Amino acid sequence: MKKCKGLLSLFLVSLLVLMLAACGEDVASQKASSSKGDQNKKIKIGLSVSDLTLERWQHDRDIFVEKAKGLGADVFVQSANGDEAKQLSQIQNMLSQGIDALVIIAINSDSLTTVVDQAKQEGIPVLAYDRLINNSDVSAYVSFDNVRVGEMQAEYVVKNVPKGNYFMLGGSPTDNNAKMFREGQMNVIQPLVDKGDIKIIGDQWAKNWDANEAMKIMENALTANKNKIDAVVASNDATAGGAIQALSAQNMDGKVAISGQDADLAAVQRIVEGKQSMTVYKPIKTIATKSAEVAVQLAKGEKVEGSEKVNNGKVDVPFIKLDPIMVGKDEVMDTIIKDGFHPYDDVYKNVPENERPPRP
Ligand code: GAL
Repeated sequence: MKKCKGLLSLFLVSLLVLMLAACGEDVASQKASSSKGDQNKKIKIGLSVSDLTLERWQHDRDIFVEKAKGLGADVFVQSANGDEAKQLSQIQNMLSQGIDALVIIAINSDSLTTVVDQAKQEGIPVLAYDRLINNSDVSAYVSFDNVRVGEMQAEYVVKNVPKGNYFMLGGSPTDNNAKMFREGQMNVIQPLVDKGDIKIIGDQWAKNWDANEAMKIMENALTANKNKIDAVVASNDATAGGAIQALSAQNMDGKVAISGQDADLAAVQRIVEGKQSMTVYKPIKTIATKSAEVAVQLAKGEKVEGSEKVNNGKVDVPFIKLDPIMVGKDEVMDTIIKDGFHPYDDVYKNVPENERPPRP
């Protein structure tokens, strides 16, 4: 009987051990399945766009959202349409929406420190899209070689007009990129000013890259200089468009060399019509796709490596640097059209059929 009791208690103990083990297994498997659930949780990305009224950023938004979706993320997009205070409040709102990563195209590269640092404290990594954000804890920066963009603009104009009166038309004074474009432009132009070949007869910056503002700046410059302007170094296509309107009112469009940037459709049309000298094509597909990949990586807590680092006044930010492409009339076909950025028919819409190059 004693032996029987002993066997029974051994049996009961074993049963208990087995039950406990099974229970433990249950907890473990629950944990595993819940963490799998976390992995499968949809990533949420906030995309704060500076100004969707400019053509360029509409392409960026569309490609970014499509790529991020393909990578399993939902994107919450807001545009501040050039209003700094609006961008700040939109970002604060996004931070309260449970996003996993924040992507910002900054209106003012110097005024987002607080909000970016707040994101960092809340564990939300920030990607500076195309424009660097200064003095803040940015996790990554994806952009083009912006100094090179400025050099390309000036090189092209100088090639066409090696000597003469130059007007410098800067972009938005609060945009870090606008300063880098100018740095590149002056790398090319300053030596020619020093040599006495080029005279800078005016230098103004268009708030928010606004075309109307650029037009007014150009009108005043033409009046002040009695139309004696040979070349305009404009920093993007929107401002070039405004300046060309002012030139055209004086029948000077096509006679004054003028640069641009972004390969906006209207600008590419002006180039093939001979009204604008060049643009800088920055393949939006490349920056938007890369940025979506990086944003998803950051959202997953993965580390991002850049091709180099850039100091923003506070940290060394991994910089994924992309190459811009110089496009004059002769390059339109092999770049913008070949890439499908704009269709042949749209680009040559205003050119008589018999004057168009053959279709690709
Ligand atoms: C700059 C950007 C340019 C142009 C401009 C106006 O920051 O690099 O490509 O689009 O803003 O939006």
